[in-house]
Amino acid sequence: MKRLKMLTMRGVLLSFVLTCVLAMTAFAETATLTIADCVKCHTKPPADIAANGGKHKTSVTCQDCHTGHRPAVKNNVPQCSMCHSGKSHYSLANCMRCHNNPHTPKIIKLANNITDECLTCHTQQITKLKQVPSKHSKLACSFCHNVHGKIPQCTQCHKPHSADMTAVDCKRCHQAHMPTAVTYPSDTANKMCAACHKKAFDLLSHSDAKHKDVACVTCHKDKHKTVPQCQGCHGVPHPAAMMSRFTKCGECHNIAHNLNHWDAAKQGEKAAPAAQPKKGQKKK
Ligand code: HEC
Ligand code: HEC
Ligand code: HEC
Ligand code: HEC
Ligand code: HEC
Ligand code: HEC
Ligand code: HEC
Ligand code: HEC
Ligand code: HEC
Ligand code: HEC
Ligand code: HEC
Ligand code: HEC
Repeated sequence: MKRLKMLTMRGVLLSFVLTCVLAMTAFAETATLTIADCVKCHTKPPADIAANGGKHKTSVTCQDCHTGHRPAVKNNVPQCSMCHSGKSHYSLANCMRCHNNPHTPKIIKLANNITDECLTCHTQQITKLKQVPSKHSKLACSFCHNVHGKIPQCTQCHKPHSADMTAVDCKRCHQAHMPTAVTYPSDTANKMCAACHKKAFDLLSHSDAKHKDVACVTCHKDKHKTVPQCQGCHGVPHPAAMMSRFTKCGECHNIAHNLNHWDAAKQGEKAAPAAQPKKGQKKK
């Protein structure tokens, strides 16, 4: 009984106090501002947020960031660090250099000299740029990626090696972040190499030996400037006794791009080398 009375008394007291507070705040206009009021005097921030607010639209309200208002509160502009901390990206200086409008946080403007800041999120590319130093290693990331997430075409800055090469071909041989380490897959057409090796291309195309049907990249496998050994493909084609007298296959066969052709029916005896051995025949 006693207890119940006391609670009722407390309730009455409480509602009285509340009524007073409400009356006072109604009087001091600014303290009653609601989010719906902001747009009456400020048009751009609400419009920006509505259009491109991202999570600043969905995860926070105007008043989570702007607590209080003039004249009662002199500075209601928040620091980003109020809500963003704990990642290296959040300790960069001057956030609004890139996120230049807090009401459109995902619209990012990048100056053309930015590298270190990118590394707060991307690490693989700098590793490659350092591992294989090239002229690209001296460029800032945002010199090429001037809009965040945008991938430039090589041909924006470079001419293809030949007229029948297009921008999609570049990646076949080059990687953007280590462009001088040239490698290529096994289905690379001979004409890609011909752009710079016309002589080799012409010689091989006009030869009538079977190497004509072997692709450049079958012999010069995977990595630019790889030169194959004949034995890598042909093993030991002749008796050791014969080979001991010759240091190079080329002494009889000429070069890989233009093998001597000994088809007797076509070429006649004179094309054959003097030292032509008989298979299996032993000689001292
Ligand atoms: C009755 C009109 C009015 C309403 C409603 C209003 N403001 Fe303002 N606000 C002003 C005026 C006036 C200024 C001062 C502009 C100046 O000094 O240049 C201002 C300034 C600001 C500033 C800048 C503060 C600074 O230090 O530069 C922010 C932020 C702001 N208001 C946010 C809000 C938010 C958020 C709301 C809604 C909760 C809101 N305002 C509602 C009139 C209003
Ligand atoms: C994530 C935090 C955040 C949210 C949410 C936010 N603002 Fe701001 N607002 C800022 C910051 C930071 C600035 C200071 C910008 C500057 O220094 O250029 C600012 C500046 C302002 C200004 C003064 C400069 C100007 O652009 O006119 C007004 C007015 C303003 N905000 C109103 C609003 C209103 C209204 C809303 C809700 C529709 C809102 N803001 C939501 C962070 C926020
Ligand atoms: C009142 C708290 C608050 C303040 C102040 C604030 N933010 Fe945020 N911001 C958030 C929240 C909450 C999210 C959503 C976080 C999440 O999902 O992890 C967010 C998200 C973001 C995003 C990602 C937006 C998206 O749509 O994915 C960016 C960028 C961002 N903030 C930048 C800033 C910058 C720059 C400032 C200072 C100008 C700032 N924020 C100030 C609370 C805040
Ligand atoms: C050099 C430019 C640059 C600066 C300076 C910068 N940012 Fe960013 N920020 C970015 C880029 C680029 C993204 C990636 C956006 C995306 O994912 O689309 C980003 C993403 C974000 C995100 C969303 C992704 C996440 O990691 O949560 C938040 C939040 C954010 N920045 C906050 C900040 C804050 C806070 C500061 C200042 C301490 C800051 N940024 C300074 C460029 C910058
Ligand atoms: C706050 C973290 C953050 C910062 C800072 C940041 N990025 Fe990103 N970046 C991302 C995220 C997240 C993605 C999208 C996810 C993905 O594809 O990896 C992305 C995507 C990219 C892409 C496209 C990737 C693709 O596969 O299509 C490029 C290019 C890129 N960023 C370059 C940069 C450059 C250059 C900078 C510095 C100017 C930078 N980023 C700064 C987080 C960041
Ligand atoms: C010379 C121009 C150039 C420079 C400098 C450059 N990039 Fe790239 N980047 C590219 C190109 C082109 C691609 C597309 C590669 C592809 O599609 O194979 C790319 C791809 C990317 C990607 C997508 C994922 C990947 O690795 O393919 C990210 C992320 C990226 N770059 C970040 C960076 C960062 C961070 C830096 C600075 C440390 C940087 N880039 C420097 C031209 C450049
Ligand atoms: C935004 C411009 C830009 C883009 C995009 C770009 N490059 Fe470059 N690249 C350069 C510049 C600048 C140099 C240095 C030129 C010089 O100093 O002569 C360079 C140099 C090179 C070099 C010579 C490197 C050396 O150290 O000798 C190669 C190879 C190269 N680029 C290939 C590529 C390839 C392949 C792509 C696409 C994956 C590409 N580049 C995309 C600007 C660019
Ligand atoms: C078949 C392989 C291959 C393809 C495809 C290819 N490149 Fe190259 N590129 C090379 C080789 C090999 C070199 C190195 C030559 C050297 O060592 O001097 C080179 C060198 C370069 C250089 C350095 C300067 C020069 O001309 O020597 C640039 C720039 C370049 N390539 C851009 C491109 C671009 C852009 C594309 C796409 C249109 C492309 N490359 C396609 C193999 C290729
Ligand atoms: C952009 C021009 C370019 C392209 C494309 C190119 N190369 Fe080269 N290549 C060169 C240059 C330059 C050299 C060095 C020549 C020298 O040192 O005299 C070279 C050298 C070579 C060598 C000789 C290595 C040595 O040690 O003697 C071989 C083999 C070779 N390239 C094969 C190829 C093959 C196979 C392709 C096609 C997948 C190709 N190249 C595409 C420019 C190119
Ligand atoms: C990448 C493997 C490869 C390399 C390296 C290679 N060859 Fe061949 N060679 C072949 C193939 C494949 C044939 C065709 C075999 C067939 O059709 O029977 C061939 C055929 C030949 C023939 C028979 C030609 C004909 O027209 O009948 C001779 C001779 C020959 N190679 C010599 C050489 C010599 C010498 C070298 C080193 C300068 C060499 N090869 C390097 C793969 C290779
Ligand atoms: C059957 C294997 C084979 C094929 C196919 C082949 N090469 Fe070669 N290439 C060699 C060998 C082996 C050498 C070393 C010189 C020699 O012994 O003939 C060489 C040397 C070279 C050289 C350096 C010396 C020179 O002659 O300039 C270049 C460049 C070259 N090749 C480019 C090419 C190109 C481009 C193609 C395709 C059009 C090609 N090669 C096809 C095996 C081959
Ligand atoms: C003394 C000269 C001579 C030397 C050195 C020589 N060859 Fe031959 N090679 C020949 C002759 C001649 C033939 C044709 C024999 C025949 O038709 O039976 C031949 C045939 C071949 C054939 C074709 C076999 C076939 O069955 O079609 C290959 C492959 C070959 N040689 C590879 C090599 C290689 C690899 C070397 C270096 C290790 C080499 N030769 C060194 C003279 C030589």
